[in-house]
Amino acid sequence: MGNESNGTLQKVISDPRTVVYIDMADQHLERIGYTEHGRKHAEFVSQRAAYILEKLGFPDKSVRLAAIAGYLHDLGNLISRTNHGFSSAFLAKDILDENNFSIEDTATIMSAVGNHEDDGGEITNEITAAIIIGDKTHVHRSRVRNRNFISFDIHDRVNYAVTESRIDVDSAAKQIILNLAIDTGISEVVEYFEIFLSRMLLCKRAAEYLGTKFSMFINNVKLI
Ligand SMILES: [Fe+2]
Ligand SMILES: [Fe+2]
Repeated sequence: MGNESNGTLQKVISDPRTVVYIDMADQHLERIGYTEHGRKHAEFVSQRAAYILEKLGFPDKSVRLAAIAGYLHDLGNLISRTNHGFSSAFLAKDILDENNFSIEDTATIMSAVGNHEDDGGEITNEITAAIIIGDKTHVHRSRVRNRNFISFDIHDRVNYAVTESRIDVDSAAKQIILNLAIDTGISEVVEYFEIFLSRMLLCKRAAEYLGTKFSMFINNVKLI
């Protein structure tokens, strides 16, 4: 570790700590009935966060750090779901220290990861804002592990109902638009709101931090 940062996303992804921590975090959440939070979720948030900053014209370094913070944001679930933003930040630090990240880049990633949840998280840099939007917009049928429709809870229903999820970033119009296709035979739009209102408000705050407006369409109807 030093001032020169030559850590890469690839090194972080293939570090054995990352692999084990993410897999164990996902197992922990599976046992308490949560949707998929493993490598697929890590990759999704990493790619979406980087995509948002890239499309909005942020520097390459910010795009790179957002991809890494996005990949590491949920590691702490292996310790506990409670305060997992904080525990994720410290688990990420070990991995970044071992992979030649500068102190500054490590600190930026820790701050973003530590503030990604809506339990008092504060947005103080673009990396945090980007991973919040990446994380909170990851709703999709593929995240539901419960295959027994009868025992679906509201989270399962709402996720399972989402058959398509696309984000459009319009840098000229300064807009981030989430487009969802929902099967209303599985979950009503109102149910979606019951679960996701606080997450969408957090996305709105994050988008504002990036100088943009967040909107959401469900089945082509504008909701926010
Ligand atoms: Fe999280
Ligand atoms: Fe997450």
